[in-house]
Amino acid sequence: MAVDQRRPPVIHQLSAAIANQIAAGEVVERPAAVVKELAENSLDAGATRIEVASEDGGRRLIEISDDGHGMGRDDLRLAVSRHATSKLTRAEDLERIATLGFRGEALPSIAAVSEFAIASRPHGESTGWELRLNGGEEVAFAPCALSPGTRVTVRNLFWNVPARLKFLKSEAAETGHLTDQVVRLALSHPGTAFRLRCDGRIAVDLPASEDLTQRIRALFPGDLASSLIAVDGSSDTSQISGFIAHPRTATATARRQYLFLNGRFVRDRLLVAAVKEGFKGFLEPRLHGAVFLHIDLDPAQVDVNVHPTKSEVRFRREGEVFALVSRAIQKGLASQPGGFSLLSAQVVGREVVKPAAPMVVVQERYLPLTIATEPAPNRGPTAPVPTGPEPVRGGASTWHAEPRETIRAAEDRPSPSRYTTPSVANGDGGSSRPGVLVQHAPALGEPPVQPLPAAQVNRPTDQLNRPPAQLNRPTTTPIRRVLQLNRMYLLIETDTGIRLVDQHALHEKALLNSLAPSASDLIAGGRQELLMPIQVALSAAEVAGVAPVLPALAEFGIDAVAAGPTTIQVRAHPARLRRLDWAGFFADVAADGAAAVDGLRERLAHHAACRAAVKAGQELSPDEQRELAQLLFTLDGMEHCPHGRPTVLDLPWDELARRFQR
Ligand SMILES: Nc1ncnc2c1ncn2[C@@H]1O[C@H](COP(=O)(O)OP(=O)(O)OP(=O)(O)O)[C@@H](O)[C@H]1O
Ligand SMILES: [Mg+2]
Repeated sequence: MAVDQRRPPVIHQLSAAIANQIAAGEVVERPAAVVKELAENSLDAGATRIEVASEDGGRRLIEISDDGHGMGRDDLRLAVSRHATSKLTRAEDLERIATLGFRGEALPSIAAVSEFAIASRPHGESTGWELRLNGGEEVAFAPCALSPGTRVTVRNLFWNVPARLKFLKSEAAETGHLTDQVVRLALSHPGTAFRLRCDGRIAVDLPASEDLTQRIRALFPGDLASSLIAVDGSSDTSQISGFIAHPRTATATARRQYLFLNGRFVRDRLLVAAVKEGFKGFLEPRLHGAVFLHIDLDPAQVDVNVHPTKSEVRFRREGEVFALVSRAIQKGLASQPGGFSLLSAQVVGREVVKPAAPMVVVQERYLPLTIATEPAPNRGPTAPVPTGPEPVRGGASTWHAEPRETIRAAEDRPSPSRYTTPSVANGDGGSSRPGVLVQHAPALGEPPVQPLPAAQVNRPTDQLNRPPAQLNRPTTTPIRRVLQLNRMYLLIETDTGIRLVDQHALHEKALLNSLAPSASDLIAGGRQELLMPIQVALSAAEVAGVAPVLPALAEFGIDAVAAGPTTIQVRAHPARLRRLDWAGFFADVAADGAAAVDGLRERLAHHAACRAAVKAGQELSPDEQRELAQLLFTLDGMEHCPHGRPTVLDLPWDELARRFQR
């Protein structure tokens, strides 16, 4: 706008409609925020049951019904007008807010940017009344049939704010956010029944729970639910109670950290830091333990009126809150029977809490010298996957993994092979020479690998186990010696010079080369029906993103279903994918949503290869070093890793001589 410097612009009062639209920009960021505001109103109204329905990720419809105290006819118009609230009357009340709402902003803000209807009937009255607005303008007000309680319907959200509409994500992503929101609300009020229906599909269905544990178990089945540790504590002005999950269920993101302050979900830096401090010594710093903690604080000790969405708060006594949270967690962890602290004794508060048994670090992933194919730290909570030796078919090595039993520190490891190249394995039928996996009998209780039709067993080219290009390569290599450098590189001396190899990149490429998994290739290795399905913990947004792709996984022998708003359950998978990082794979798929259907084959191969490859920083025994180095000479196209980076740098003897001017 051109500014005329000679004349000041005219100041005028904004209309209520525009003021509400501006307020909506802060309060209603996306459909999930509408769900939050409306459900919080229902909780403030004492609802014992809240039903949420959405269509098109909440864009086309959000409807929330409750059985709370409702509103009389005369209050409906007031409820949708700005700064009208029943929760606050005097300025001093701001010091002691005990309800979720208090600003009197949510309804008018939502009504300003949607086609909005609110219907309500107080208990004891025979009829309800419904008020309809469009873009904040009243269009109808009439009696309606309704059970006691309140129903708010929001259609075509942001129809009159196209700029906001553009910022919304895909339907799956918005549905995910919305589901996350319901999960938080459900954890904040376990005694209230919640049901969420997305486009007719029931995504969350939770009866009223007796306590928080029951609700957590309903939402997070599997390992997390079975590893809950009760936590409590108190200080002068506050108390804390709730649960943390065993550190083994920790993930690389903090998405399983649910902290509630006076019944309100908060995402606060101080609390996040306090949780981290609580897990210190029990968890690698980059991992986040799952927590479900309710903090009850004297309302005078906290200011929730910092941000319109109220997710940020300010504590009057920060140090006290920090100590309350971190000590409660430490105490919970340290007092576990058989304690799993990294320390032999934890100083918790002023008392020294000794674990009941000597120090035990139970997580294999913390062992510095674990075998390459062990699950990475952040795979998320999963049900116990069969851990015994898994049968290897037909004497052929799989491209990954020796059985878990062989995990031990390098010193006492009898140099088992990890890099068995398919050609070697196929070449001699899996004999006992170094570099070939031994065939194991199935462990007791291990889900059997389904037998294959003979035609598949004898397939001439089992590409998973035998990359086509490698068959004619000589198995004797000109390697004179191999030396591992900095736990990252291999220095290989050959007849013609020296070669410096990136150990992870080389192994990953070799694995990927041996994987050209058409669907039938994958299934050709047999399929494992899991007695205990793998529970893959994801965010609700990720589950919503993955859900449309799940049916397409059946073609690859993967039977996976959405088992809850934040859980995907893998019930069967090709034996060859038994070490797949499912959480990583699904998170990757979720990022692309339905579009991921097209590249599933490649994605599976990449995830399988990357996970199974030896890591940088991993110490290798001399045999392992040699075996890995051999891959460079026995497989084709090993010079670049799957990400296009070089795997090897060459320095021939004559080049070396030239450089030294010999
Ligand atoms: N589901 C409901 N049941 C009963 N009363 C309701 C319900 N929803 C809203 N109300 C009434 O309408 C009023 C206005 O709601 P609104 O959400 O706009 O403001 P608030 O909840 O008071 O504050 P905030 O803007 O912080 O949410 C509430 O104070 C409450 O009295
Ligand atoms: Mg409100």
